[in-house]
Parts: sequence; C-alpha cells; structure tokens
Amino acid sequence: MKRVLTGIKPTGYAHLGNYFGAIKPAIELSKDENYECFYFIADYHALTTLKTKDEMKEYFYNIACTWLACGLDPNRVIFYRQSDIKEVFEINWILCNVTPKGLMNRAHAYKAIVENNEQNNFDRDANVNMGLYNYPILMASDILSFGADLVPVGLDQKQHIEIARDIAMAFNKKYQEVFNIPDCYIQENNNTLVGLDGRKMSKSYNNTIQLFTDEKELKKKINKIVTDSKLPGEPKDVNCTINKLYKLFVDENRAKDFEQKLKDGLSWGEAKNMLFEVANNYIKPMREKFLYFMNNKNLVDEILKQGAIKAQKYAREYLKNVRKAIGVEN
Ligand code: ADP
Ligand code: TRP
Repeated sequence: MKRVLTGIKPTGYAHLGNYFGAIKPAIELSKDENYECFYFIADYHALTTLKTKDEMKEYFYNIACTWLACGLDPNRVIFYRQSDIKEVFEINWILCNVTPKGLMNRAHAYKAIVENNEQNNFDRDANVNMGLYNYPILMASDILSFGADLVPVGLDQKQHIEIARDIAMAFNKKYQEVFNIPDCYIQENNNTLVGLDGRKMSKSYNNTIQLFTDEKELKKKINKIVTDSKLPGEPKDVNCTINKLYKLFVDENRAKDFEQKLKDGLSWGEAKNMLFEVANNYIKPMREKFLYFMNNKNLVDEILKQGAIKAQKYAREYLKNVRKAIGVEN
C-alpha cells in the first residue's frame, strides 16, 4: 500500500481552484484501497503569511470544515492539524543540521523575494524571516516524519518535494537509512483553474470564487467574471472563463450542449445565469455540510484530535529511529 500525504495552509478561504486542483483529487485518491492517506492542515506553515490570531482561527476552521464537507472520511484518512504533531518539529530541527544553507537560498519563494528586493534597491533579505527561509525544511519534516511515498501537490510545490528528497538522502547518507524517499504526485489533466480576471485563480490575485460563499455572493462573483464585449447572438469564444468553469460542474454531454449554445450566440448574461445554476447545484449539498461543521466546531476539534493521536504513532516511530541514528537515544 502506498502512503500518500498532503497539506493545505490555512491562509485564506478555500476557493474553487483549491477544490478542483487539490481537495477533490485528494479525496478521490483516499477512496482507492491502494492508498493510505495522511491529510493535514499546515497551520505552522501559514505563520509566514498570517498577521493575527483571529485570522489563524478563521482560516483554520474554514480549511478543516472544507475538507470534511468535501467528503474526507476521517475513518479512511488520517486527518490532523500540523501543530498537534510535536514530533514533526523535533525532526525539523534535526533536519536543519543536514540541510545546506545554499539549498534554501535556491528555493523559489525565497529567491523571488530576494530578486524583488534587489530590483528595488532594498536589503536583499528585507521582509524575510527565518520561518519563510526555513519553510522547505519544515515541509520536508511533514513528509519525512510519516514516511510518505507520494505527495500530491500543484506544480508550484514540485521544488519543495525535490528539496525534501535531497534532505532525506543527506540524512540517510550521514547516519543510516531512516527516511523513505518521497515522490511528487502531480495529476495529469489537472489544469490550473482561472479566476474572475482570466489569470490563475489565487488568493494572491484577489480573483477567487470562494467555494462556500453564500448563494447571493456566488451569483455576484459569477457576474463579475470578465468577458469580451460580444453581443447576444454573436458566437462566443469557447476558451472563455465561463466555459472553463461550467465544464467542471457537469458531465460531458451537458458540457457539449453549453459549448454549442455559446457558439450559437448565447448572451453573456444568460451564460452567467446558467453557470450559477450548475455551480450552485453542485456546491449546495457540500455547503450545507460545511455550515454544519462550522456550527459544530467541537466536533471538528474532536475529529482532528483523534487524527492527531493516530498520526503521532507514526511520527513517534520515525522520531525514535532518528534519535537513535544521531546518538541521543539508545
Ligand atoms: P492560493 O494560490 O490561492 O494561495 P494555495 O497556494 O494555498 O492557493 O494552494 C493550495 C492548493 O490548491 C495547492 O495544492 C494548489 O496547487 C491548489 N491550487 C491553488 N490554486 C489553484 C488553481 N487556480 N488551480 C488549480 N489548483 C490550485
Ligand atoms: N507548502 C504547501 C503549499 O503551499 C503546503 C504544505 C505544507 C504541504 N506541508 C506540506 C504540501 C507537505 C504537501 C506536503 O501548498
């Protein structure tokens, strides 16, 4: 059985890109008997972004309830909160000591900030704290502490998995073969979802449609999708954002029908109404579950507590082997 592990940072409200790009495929994978899944909320990774404790609480429950509302079954998936697994942070420190500083200098997120600082004639490390700099080591710890085989992530995270592999190999070489070497798992045909303005849907671009926003807000957001100025009756480009989104919510036949209507000159207003209908129908049952969990946070806490107990067993075993390998435990 392959061990699959992935985490999502609670840095904002879950949006359609997160759902179709990460959550839905991860949940489908968890239904396959060949995989043993570890999914978690990477709350300590979110510290590099969040400004207040209220934000942490708000986004933490949003992401936790989203996973559950989207069908994560805590009996099948070990579902936990990163900060509950103290073993990960002990392993993190040990791994810092086999990680060359140069490897961190080359990490994309850090490099991008340095380049931006240099262009603006700021100190090269302006606005960089050690959490951001060491981010890839903590991510390696998340993965290696559970001996993950496969890590499903978006393309932007591929380098982090490569770094995790390098760190594992460095440790294994210096001491002994303790860590499993993980592989990146990037889903084929999983295109990047576009946002309201046609760019990648992302919190950073402020162009998202929140997954569990209420109906009114969902309608408002869909109405904001940027289109060209073609009039009703004129054929529409099927590469438009509305068509790309519509397809996600329906089967192939309905997708073809819609595409034909666009070619036949469906008005943008009508197209947006139709998109709202299918999106809302798709999301509605999950939204109800989401609200149920949001109104029963004790239940969510309990699920995560049970998940942490299960996860700790695995991490404890790894930590023990690591401590023995470095000579602090017999
Ligand atoms: P954001 O860009 O909004 O900050 P995150 O980086 O927190 O999103 O992404 C969390 C997960 O959702 C990652 O696995 C990422 O690959 C996936 N994801 C985010 N945006 C999209 C998108 N537009 N299309 C597909 N997947 C996405
Ligand atoms: N860095 C990931 C992201 O930004 C989140 C993450 C943290 C993660 N730890 C992980 C993903 C371990 C996979 C495995 O999306």
